This record gives sequence, structure tokens and C-alpha cells, in this order.
Amino acid sequence: MADSTTPFVGGESTPEPGQPPQGEPRLRLRGINKSFGAVRALTDVDFEVYAGEVVGLVGDNGAGKSTLIKAISGVNLDVVSNLFLGHELVNVVPLAEVEMEKRGLGVLQTLDVKLPSIRSKVAQLSGGQRQSIAVAKTILRHAKIVLLDEPTAALGVAQTRQVLQLIRRLRDQGLAVVVISHNLADVFEVVDRVVVLRLGRRVGTFDIKTTTPERIVAAITGAEFGELLKTTPTNGNGASGGDDQ
Ligand SMILES: Nc1ncnc2c1ncn2[C@@H]1O[C@H](COP(=O)(O)OP(=O)(O)O)[C@@H](O)[C@H]1O
Ligand SMILES: [Mg+2]
Repeated sequence: MADSTTPFVGGESTPEPGQPPQGEPRLRLRGINKSFGAVRALTDVDFEVYAGEVVGLVGDNGAGKSTLIKAISGVNLDVVSNLFLGHELVNVVPLAEVEMEKRGLGVLQTLDVKLPSIRSKVAQLSGGQRQSIAVAKTILRHAKIVLLDEPTAALGVAQTRQVLQLIRRLRDQGLAVVVISHNLADVFEVVDRVVVLRLGRRVGTFDIKTTTPERIVAAITGAEFGELLKTTPTNGNGASGGDDQ
């Protein structure tokens, strides 16, 4: 099967933080398929993210999370700010600055800003250089969607707090944020909606206000919800507990 994406990019309305999505999503992809040779990484995945919303993308190793986020980033690069914060990258808030520097290289050149290195830490720059970077950042802030792949995986407690706060700020500025995380505590702290992938398929969608970690784990693993929570009556709808099937 050919790889396919059907992107929709738009949606200017920004709901209040924490409000359920309404109107058109800022980004919608339908029927995404992706194979690596014989490996089906994604099968017919729909995905959407709304302005002013943080979506948590969760699933076991190999579920297709990174592949999906790469598919999203490939759709329309001028509206997508790609912040792939890999495990080897440690300090995320300065990294966001660094990423801006990279994306802003062209802008910085037009502003005639000379930096020791494009990877210079902002803290090591002169006041003028910092000011210029601030200007470049405002120029670059047309990004409407931010993608974060395991942004807290390598971080300690304090740095994790900073990153979660950054994610909230992005949301409160009306951006659409997608964050991959295997840390359900982080997910519950910062996301509005959770999308679960299992073996390349979207198997559940949960409003964070009305779900539980147990339900999400059940969707991730494919376990029957009732087996995980024998003391809690279930409606027999199986693992997802969400609105997908
Ligand atoms: N570049 C690649 N070449 C071959 N297989 C890949 C590649 N990237 C991902 N895969 C495979 O696709 C599936 C999904 O991987 P990935 O999206 O990285 O999962 P996740 O991020 O959820 O851990 C896995 O089976 C993985 O081995
Ligand atoms: Mg991954």
C-alpha cells in the first residue's frame, strides 16, 4: 500500500485552555499509512489537533508514535514547528532557543547577527545578540503547531517541571501542541486529550478530565479494561474506553 496523508491545515479559533475541541482542528490528517519494507508502522491513522490544545500521543515502543509525528511534520513545514527533543538532548528550554536559532538562521542573517555558533547557548551571548534573537523569534513565531517527541525522557525533576510549564505556555498562547510521552504522570499533568496508538493503529482517544491512567494503560497494552480493574464495574466496551473504534 502506498504511503498516504490527507492533510488539512487551518482553524484559527482558539478555545479557552482546557475546553473541549470545537470547530475545525488546526491540523487534521486522515488515513495515514506508512510502511518500512514489510513493517506496517502506521495503518489508516486519523489524527487531529486543535488550537490551544495539548494532545498526548502515547503507546508502547514501536507503536508508531515517532513515525506519526514525522508524518505530521512532513505535511506543511511552514506551519509546523518541529521540536524533536531526542533522548540525547538534555536541557530542553535552552534547546527550544537553539531550535529557534536553527530555524532562524536565515532571519538572523538578514538581521546581520553574528553568533559564535548556531548552537551557542543564549546565556553565553551578548545582550545585543540576545535582543536580536528575541526579534528573530517573534518573526519566527508564526508556528502554529509544536511537536514534542519525548521531551522529558532524559530530564530530572526540575527540568521536567520547566518543560511542562513551557508546554502550558505554548498552549495558552493558542498553539496546537502534540507531545509524545511514555510518562503518564507528565501526560496527566499537561495534556488535554490523549491519543493511543497500538501496533500502528489508533485505538483510543481520551479526554484527560474524564479518564484514568488505568484506562490508558489498558488501551496501550490491549488488555481488557475489566481485567485490570476487577473491582470497578465496566460497560464491557473493551480496552479503549475512548471514542475510537
Ligand atoms: N526508519 C525505519 N526503518 C525501519 N523501520 C522503522 C523505521 N522507523 C520506524 N520503524 C518501525 O516502525 C514501527 C514504529 O516505530 P516508531 O514510530 O519509532 O514507534 P514509537 O515511536 O511508537 O516507539 C516499529 O516497528 C519500528 O521498528
Ligand atoms: Mg518513538
